[in-house]
Amino acid sequence: MGENLVKTLIIYKSVHHGNTLKIAKVMADVLEAELMDLKDASVNFIEEYDLIGFGSGIYKARPHKELIKFIDDLNKVKSKKAFVFTTSGIGYSRYNSFLKNKLSEKYFEIVGEFSCKGFDTWGPFKYIGGISKGKPDKDDLKNAENFANDLKKKF
Ligand SMILES: Cc1cc2nc3c(=O)[nH]c(=O)nc-3n(C[C@H](O)[C@H](O)[C@H](O)COP(=O)(O)O)c2cc1C
Repeated sequence: MGENLVKTLIIYKSVHHGNTLKIAKVMADVLEAELMDLKDASVNFIEEYDLIGFGSGIYKARPHKELIKFIDDLNKVKSKKAFVFTTSGIGYSRYNSFLKNKLSEKYFEIVGEFSCKGFDTWGPFKYIGGISKGKPDKDDLKNAENFANDLKKKF
């Protein structure tokens, strides 16, 4: 088949157990996207891509503060699409809202979102061996793959 004409970048922040990175990798494979750790990303890169995925673990009910700052530092964009994904101990999909709102402020068109549970040994949870053990699991990775395939069909 022809080459992917939608240039896609995925920027992620995954500091606790690499849970979000696992999801990001699956999505990057399907979308033939550039996969970039936030620490290697610069706001100038955004210009070169049509579709940008932003992924983060959830830390104290928020995406990582460095990812929030990165988005705050972006100029308003024109005709760029974005999708967001988060992993968290609880797995609430509403944890995505923060990123979606931030990106909307910069005029990104939000074209998709994904969330799932991620192994969590933060704070007191470590004394009970953590919660959401083994997550993301095979099914979560399959769901992430399906999500990315659906997204791909849209463009
Ligand atoms: C400092 C810290 C705070 C966290 N706060 C929350 C939280 O408020 N809600 C939640 O569901 N999970 C919370 N978690 C669990 C993480 O969101 C979860 O383990 C996530 O999958 C981490 O992603 P990562 O491995 O990509 O960093 C927290 C973890 C850490 C380390």
